[in-house]
Amino acid sequence: MESIKAGILGFGTVGCGTYAVLRRNQEEIRRRAGRGIEITRIAVRSVERARAALDALPRTGAAGTPAAGTPAAGMPAAGTPTIDTDFEGLVADPSIDIVVETIGGTERARELVLAAIAHGKHVVTANKALLAIHGTEIFQAAHARGVMVAFEAAVAGGIPIIKALREGLSGNRIEWIAGIINGTTNFILSEMRDRGVDFATALADAQKLGYAEADPTFDIEGVDAAHKLTLMSAIAFGVPIQFDRAYVEGISRLDAIDLRYAEELGYRIKLLGITRRSADGIELRVHPTLIPSKRLIANVEGAMNAVAVQGDAVGTTLYYGKGAGAEPTASAMVADLVDVTRLHTADPEHRTPHLAFQPDQLSDTPI
Ligand code: HSE
Repeated sequence: MESIKAGILGFGTVGCGTYAVLRRNQEEIRRRAGRGIEITRIAVRSVERARAALDALPRTGAAGTPAAGTPAAGMPAAGTPTIDTDFEGLVADPSIDIVVETIGGTERARELVLAAIAHGKHVVTANKALLAIHGTEIFQAAHARGVMVAFEAAVAGGIPIIKALREGLSGNRIEWIAGIINGTTNFILSEMRDRGVDFATALADAQKLGYAEADPTFDIEGVDAAHKLTLMSAIAFGVPIQFDRAYVEGISRLDAIDLRYAEELGYRIKLLGITRRSADGIELRVHPTLIPSKRLIANVEGAMNAVAVQGDAVGTTLYYGKGAGAEPTASAMVADLVDVTRLHTADPEHRTPHLAFQPDQLSDTPI
């Protein structure tokens, strides 16, 4: 069967990582998706920078196609994506079935994602801020247009927590979710405690390693974790996405001495995101938390993430893995591309809705 065609908006850490994984693992991906996934178009602000990033990737064949030969002057080689600055053109391109959004931010991303949906494209995104703020509108638009918005990469990087909540635990009544869901802050806390590195240096290292958000205050003030928590909560409890109702406190007021005192008392301090059912509705909170040092989650170090989920049938389950960085995030993006390709290719009458919750049937459980 002919490859499905996708276009990428943006070609930074996540966009380039997604392209690289698609290209490297194209044969496995083709088998799992039932057909190849080909990136035919990339829209960016700087064509030169994107081309340089593309050229720096190992030449193991263009994404979804055999390795390309040397292109004729001015012409892209067969299988090489077109790179231009026409974001609107990409989302309207009739030859493209899936739009991979990696530009980040909320307003421009919202416009482009809604335009892609209006043009009947499926969307794959890692943009938790976009979905935490505009998710209800976006999912409603996708639902009305019969397309999918997949966002595994938006929460906990490479850990397939969205699929776990949506599929693996779908027989459970979820009681609570608690997790370390921001790699940057966990990295900073680990560096400060274990290596005596000061806050600013640890943050700069997290930025160099590609963990931090474009605006790292989102990481250190707990906002990024709250975005992710809001999405998990909506899936687990069927409530609307209400980021503005979350209690959010980051790690910027913590000092090395707080970490040392906690250690002496037999605790570690971790930035946790917690959502649970309570008598008054659904709790949503992100804040530094003292955790007994013997607990598994207290020993999650560096940029690793861990999410514990309590379901009434399964009990407690724990998911652990890399929560940030190009390839772990790409792992989740590509998984969504495979998922969307399979569902797109299935008879539409028998397609399982990809949404974790139906935006027109949200419960009225208060938050
Ligand atoms: N800035 C995020 C983090 C990236 O540190 O976890 C992954 O979502």
